[in-house]
Amino acid sequence: MTRAMQDDTIVDAGTSLSGDVLAIRGGHPLRGRVDVKGAKNLATKAMVASLLGETSSVLRDVPVLSDVAVVRSLLEVHGVRVSEGDETGSLVLDPRDVESAHFEEIDAHAGASRIPILFCGPLLHRLGQAFIPDLGGCRIGDRPIDFHLDALRKFGAIVEKLPSGIRLSAPDGLKGANIHLPYPSVGATEQVLLTAVRAKGETELRNAAIEPEIMDLIALLQKMGAIISYEPNRVILIEGVETLRGYDHRCIFDRNEAASWASAAIATDGEIFVGGAKQQEMLTFLNVFRKAGGWFDVHEDGILFRRAGDLQPVIIETDVHPGFMTDWQQPLTVALTQAHGRSIVHETVYENRMGFTDALVKMGADIVVHPHGLQDGPRRVPRRDLEQAAVITGPTPLRGAKIVVPDLRGGYSHVIAALTASGESTVSGVDILNRGYEKFLAKLGALGADFDVLG
Ligand code: EPU
Repeated sequence: MTRAMQDDTIVDAGTSLSGDVLAIRGGHPLRGRVDVKGAKNLATKAMVASLLGETSSVLRDVPVLSDVAVVRSLLEVHGVRVSEGDETGSLVLDPRDVESAHFEEIDAHAGASRIPILFCGPLLHRLGQAFIPDLGGCRIGDRPIDFHLDALRKFGAIVEKLPSGIRLSAPDGLKGANIHLPYPSVGATEQVLLTAVRAKGETELRNAAIEPEIMDLIALLQKMGAIISYEPNRVILIEGVETLRGYDHRCIFDRNEAASWASAAIATDGEIFVGGAKQQEMLTFLNVFRKAGGWFDVHEDGILFRRAGDLQPVIIETDVHPGFMTDWQQPLTVALTQAHGRSIVHETVYENRMGFTDALVKMGADIVVHPHGLQDGPRRVPRRDLEQAAVITGPTPLRGAKIVVPDLRGGYSHVIAALTASGESTVSGVDILNRGYEKFLAKLGALGADFDVLG
């Protein structure tokens, strides 16, 4: 075991590391320990949920990420008092003085994150109106919000699309609704949950997303006083209540970050102990990881990842939970460039999540992307063409290159590819990794990565 595995204070020691351009010298296996905290895709939504309470909420294990900062700031401009809690990584959110924010204060957050769309229901309940800035998030396709707006209209909201954002009002209050999502969208399911819990009457949501982060949000809302039952076949029933109180909740761990480090371990032929990773929420990933030649050992406080031997080709199709998550495919694709044979990754959730492979090809990988997939068939998301497939033939040695990070998970893959490659790479735009990987550069340093921050 390396020094970093025994002493995770090494990770903390490097927290001041930051930079947008890295010079990475590859060819060294990553070895050591990293700890994952609360999931980005729960913490940000839990913060929004605090708006629904009459009293303060305490959220624990909140990761230090730019998306968290955006949501915090947007809550603050709406009068929520946010302060640090009694333990490291905890936040106290006091919503007692919620008020409308000025357009300029809201607009300052335009393009920064997609989470603001989830403010709709809670603000409508609290203030009878809401204004949502133009959304941001990773550039991985169109990322429309039609499911969200259709659902809000069913609750009785009046939705006005303006060039600067979306204005909503609910002069007669919000009423429970019957909603059938065209696709089990994570965000639209959260939208319905956050709106239905205080809407008058019952809501039946069919074809809901059931990701572990959504189940954690349901648990948190139940702590607040909500009545939500999860029925078979993706049906969620919500009985609206008049008031909710604050919660005290520890975020579920970030399984996307855990899967990313697992892939980095086998791509670089190293060994990484991911503290805080749990088996249950990663079953599907672990099966594919094992088939790809990965070895893992589940401990009480985390999971140890490395290669079992030569890496093997696999065929993956991304899907909603309990399928193989779209966020897992990019880091694993880097490892698959080192597998002995032909792998296929079908991306079925987003229409533009293969752009990151261009940089891998530049580095020497043999990857052919089929923009319309390898076979015809019904589309997962109605009305949208979403069946990209990447065929990866390995093993191919990777060599250093100049690359620019396209999005969060693609960017992580680029860094891992640079660490796997021989020679030096210059990777620009790594700031975006702060959206989803807490203390990213410090963790890389603790794992023995050889890099300099150029700026
Ligand atoms: N979609 C629509 N209309 C809508 C909403 C979604 O067509 O109104 C489509 C999307 O364009 C996409 C598909 O439905 O093709 C799935 O989108 P979903 O709503 O499930 O995704 P999301 O809520 O926008 C969250 C995560 C993503 C993660 C996806 C899938 C957050 C903040 N983001 O996005 O995480 O990939 O679910 O699990 O929770 C990331 O962490 O890097 C990331 C992108």
